[in-house]
Amino acid sequence: MTTLTAPAELTLPNGSSAASGWSLSATGLHVNHGSFGAVPVATQVLQNTLRARMDADPVAWFSTLPERVGAVRREIAGFVGSDPDTTALVPNASAGASVVYSSLPVTRDREIVVTDHGYGAVTMGAERLARRWGGTVRTAHVPLGATPQEAHDAVMDECTSRTRLIVIDHITSATARLLPVREISASARERGIVTLVDGAHVPGLYADPLRDLDCDFWVGNLHKFACGPRGTAVLVAPGELSDELYPLIDSWGAPLGFPERFDSQGTLDLTSYLAAPKSFEFIETNWGWDTARIYMSRLADYAESVIATAFSEETGEDHHVDVGSSVNALRLVRLPSGLAKSHAEADALRDLVVAQFGIEAAFTSFEGVGYYRLSTHVYNTASDFDSFVERLVPLLIEWGRAAQSARP
Ligand SMILES: Cc1ncc(COP(=O)(O)O)c(C=O)c1O
Repeated sequence: MTTLTAPAELTLPNGSSAASGWSLSATGLHVNHGSFGAVPVATQVLQNTLRARMDADPVAWFSTLPERVGAVRREIAGFVGSDPDTTALVPNASAGASVVYSSLPVTRDREIVVTDHGYGAVTMGAERLARRWGGTVRTAHVPLGATPQEAHDAVMDECTSRTRLIVIDHITSATARLLPVREISASARERGIVTLVDGAHVPGLYADPLRDLDCDFWVGNLHKFACGPRGTAVLVAPGELSDELYPLIDSWGAPLGFPERFDSQGTLDLTSYLAAPKSFEFIETNWGWDTARIYMSRLADYAESVIATAFSEETGEDHHVDVGSSVNALRLVRLPSGLAKSHAEADALRDLVVAQFGIEAAFTSFEGVGYYRLSTHVYNTASDFDSFVERLVPLLIEWGRAAQSARP
């Protein structure tokens, strides 16, 4: 099996490593940008400065905050590629989904269709909504390697005349694949079904993710690949249902229309919103987002290849994973059998690996099979993944063998 060549490392204009633009600990190995993101130092400095201004003159700060949030909302929408007049700021993708669930008019006895790739917390919200409706959730099974057409058909075949809402991931969390959200939203529209697209991972990873996407609601996190401070996300609602949407916190914007009513959130620290554009600018001025995306994708090719090859050399099995429609900077490598057979086991493995070895990695599980979900960003280099191979692959193989032999 041939191992790909790694892309040349990115550096800052002064020649220092890209990683020196972040404050990630030098002792840790950071190969999991996708879960919680990482904030450039320049953005942290700006956010701290904004917080200091808020703490110095709170009245001046809060009395003008909604206008400043409105202005930054326009900037953030420009980055995401959404219309600022249909884009609200929310703290995270979970909040965006919660807004939709809490705002949709009650429709008795109707169904919500989700997929078995859905993010657990967002799916649980759908289940709670269905209970409030006195209805049910139907789960479409999308095989891991399904083509976009097969994925589309699996979701639409699960819909019935009672289906009111489809909740579909743009990029799936546990399985790191793209789902055909444009095609699903178009088919749903024809059948009068509302769509909520969970694009939590998307901002920053793709240049114009909402182009030709005719969904009712779309949520995306700015604190993942766009590197904004945590607590920055968008809820995009292009259609007439946007009138129904109210923030989770009722505040003084209530008489306003969508999205302005989301610009007021009472006495809340919204410096994450105000500082987020600094991260977009940091990456744009140092490397350009196009170059950054190409780098992330080529590094992910390299990482996927070296890690899967290292496993295969020991197990004799194929650890490459066909996810049907892969993502530029998020990939799956199959773990040795016996590891991360469930979501809880995958999280336990993550916790063990970070606590004992300082390796920040994401492990996932789908249909009883465990995966390492790798992610790349501009601050990662090939040596991060070479180090993963050297330090963790032998242990994972050993733990996998132990788990297999412990089976009854
Ligand atoms: C697909 C998906 N949806 C929602 C979320 C939740 O994001 P947050 O915790 O920022 O609300 C995640 C987080 O990883 C995700 O991957």
